[in-house]
Amino acid sequence: MKTNIDRWQELLNNITAKVEAQADKYTDKFPDIVEADGNCLLANASNWTTGFWPGMLLIAYKKTGNPKILDRLRNFEAIQNTMFSNLKELHHDVGFMWFLSSAEDYNYTGFEVARDNAMNAALILMSRFNPKGNFIRAWNNDEGSNVDKSGWAIIDCMLNIELLYWASKITGDPRFKHVANAHADSTLENFIRSDGTVKHVVCYNPETGDAVGNLEGQGYSTESSWTRGMGWAAYGFAKAYGYTGNAKYLEASQKVIDAFLRLLPDGEIPPCDFFQPDEPCYYDSSAGAIVACAMLENARRCPEKKEYYILEAQKLLNTLTDKCADLSPDTHGILRLATQAYHKARKNVTLVYGDYYYYEAVDKLVKILKEEEV
Ligand code: GLY
Repeated sequence: MKTNIDRWQELLNNITAKVEAQADKYTDKFPDIVEADGNCLLANASNWTTGFWPGMLLIAYKKTGNPKILDRLRNFEAIQNTMFSNLKELHHDVGFMWFLSSAEDYNYTGFEVARDNAMNAALILMSRFNPKGNFIRAWNNDEGSNVDKSGWAIIDCMLNIELLYWASKITGDPRFKHVANAHADSTLENFIRSDGTVKHVVCYNPETGDAVGNLEGQGYSTESSWTRGMGWAAYGFAKAYGYTGNAKYLEASQKVIDAFLRLLPDGEIPPCDFFQPDEPCYYDSSAGAIVACAMLENARRCPEKKEYYILEAQKLLNTLTDKCADLSPDTHGILRLATQAYHKARKNVTLVYGDYYYYEAVDKLVKILKEEEV
């Protein structure tokens, strides 16, 4: 009879086999979205999602040692790096883009070129910091639009700042982590509501630093709670705790996870927003995968709640596996039923970041169950 670990290990092996089988399908563009009919939309180097497929290749490479996978990873890193000569197209998502590819490549293989490119991205991220409001500016202004985004920060950036913690760690220069901490502190103050729900976009006055309002962003409304945003908060603060040991970050992560679990009925795929109307029904499996990672990070960081978070993460991953996972090596993408944004873009599709965090969560779970270093 299969043990619990055997079951999760088998799932992990199946995901790895699918990534290996898919590796030759993508050469000069990045897999991004799989539509309901199975068609895969590819992204150019400028897309914020370009780190996720390389991130999946790296996890697969760690499992298999297959040199073809490393070759694919390096190929995509080289494509990403073409963006360094197109700075006006880069934004705070340089964290997502270069951490999971180049920084993690360097961490694992010691490849110096990857280190330098991840450092370039960290310098770009540093340059977006506004010391008045202690926030990292999210996006650039759109050409031809009079909407000024110079004071906009978004919850997603809690994952981007990992690149800054990494940069301080490898250079020994604390400036990067000071900026990461300053951004995390103002995010804690201005994004996380007392009930643990989360705002997506907070607008600061870029001259005075005052928080002057918030926007619905990819969620349903300014008063609602976009579930993927809760994932970014829960996982980002858990990671910030891992880098700093600052207990308030761990508490913030747990507060958001508590709210997520309180609002999500057992056995259901997360909705795109917890306060969206019943119809139309937009799911976001990617939010579930990110929160599963956040719970497993908490299990690792918080021994007294380890069993609880492992159990809850397994429940969520079971739901995602039963209701969303496509493990056929012949099809594009893995985690069905994810939504880009409530009011626009694609709904109930497969998103490469859902796939990435699902893979990372299952990998993390197997390591924790085996008591390995995560
Ligand atoms: N960071 C953009 C998103 O979560 O859709």
